Amino acid sequence: MLTKKAAYNVCVVGVGAVGIELLRVLRQRRFPISKLTVLARSHRSIEVDGTSYEVQAVTPESFRGQEIILFAGTEGEKGAAVTYAQEAIRQGAVCIDNGADFRMDPKVPLVIPEVNPEDLKQHKGLIANPNCSTIQMVVALGPIHRQYRIRRIIVSTYQAASGAGSKAVEALAAEMAASVQKTAIPPPEALPQQISGNVFPQIGPFQELGYTSEEWKMVKETQKILHDPSISITATTVRVPVEHAHSESVYFETAQPTTIQAIKKLWQASPGISVVEGPNYPMPIQAAHRDEVFVGRLRPDPTQPNAFVCWIVSDNLRKGAALNAVQIAEALIQKA
Ligand SMILES: NC(=O)c1ccc[n+]([C@@H]2O[C@H](COP(=O)([O-])OP(=O)(O)OC[C@H]3O[C@@H](n4cnc5c(N)ncnc54)[C@H](OP(=O)(O)O)[C@@H]3O)[C@@H](O)[C@H]2O)c1
Repeated sequence: MLTKKAAYNVCVVGVGAVGIELLRVLRQRRFPISKLTVLARSHRSIEVDGTSYEVQAVTPESFRGQEIILFAGTEGEKGAAVTYAQEAIRQGAVCIDNGADFRMDPKVPLVIPEVNPEDLKQHKGLIANPNCSTIQMVVALGPIHRQYRIRRIIVSTYQAASGAGSKAVEALAAEMAASVQKTAIPPPEALPQQISGNVFPQIGPFQELGYTSEEWKMVKETQKILHDPSISITATTVRVPVEHAHSESVYFETAQPTTIQAIKKLWQASPGISVVEGPNYPMPIQAAHRDEVFVGRLRPDPTQPNAFVCWIVSDNLRKGAALNAVQIAEALIQKA
């Protein structure tokens, strides 16, 4: 557990799309670091915004003396958090994991600091960062749920290539270059389909009832963060040829009656949200590299009572991953 100190030994695991953003966010927010260790599968030097970082190859010994570990490696059996987190916690570290491995573990809090900071109190050394598409939707819907109780959500996402990691960003650039140069489009590797000039409704493998893993994450993680398994949620998650920032079309129904004006007022008073007034609307080109969750196009569904539709856009690598993880760490050291 963390004790109150002026600065901490911080470790970032992974220097892909999220890991690089973590290094950027830690520096931009002047996180109190006494020693920074950066780990990946292989050793090398990298540069982020003009600052050089020595990346070390991860070993079990890398975690000795670490106090805050931010995991942004790949998931699963051989993933860094699965392999190393328990031993690091045993040695006294607090781990914040960007991956999906522990998110639905009842013993592991799944936290968005603006929405459910109280869950941090129950942590036992490991805190999970929610999925990027879940975070931005729940930042926007959390305050509405608290006030008017949301009972139904239908969401369709338009998700950026960077959500699938740095290899997917490279694939988008290579495919777009091939299109312009009229050469053969490279076969898809990082993503299941060609992404340039295309849109496809598959993020993650297909699972129960024909929904993808990303769609189930939006359902189950939202219910866990809002402590309400009774919310009915249906998601369709779609990859679009955008580099940064996910967009979402969200339909929601409230149990208590409310109005467009009341929801906007609530959003304006809620941390992390920026309301874009019509005739403007949020777009990925404006949300990229920004911290806020942008909301707009709020309108009633004239065919249903207490039903609304809105458009939510946020940078998947910042609030959807790195920023949320660093905000969790900030909340922990504040309470230490
Ligand atoms: N991209 C997003 O928008 C987003 C949002 C929320 C959560 N996430 C989650 O965040 C994690 C990282 O995603 P990403 O998009 O940054 O992936 P990425 O671009 O593919 O980068 C993965 C990084 O993790 C390192 N790595 C993989 N396995 C490792 C291991 N066993 N030990 C140490 N390092 C390891 C890799 O090292 P090498 O470079 O040496 O190969 C690489 O630097 C994933 O769990 C992902 O699901 C991503």
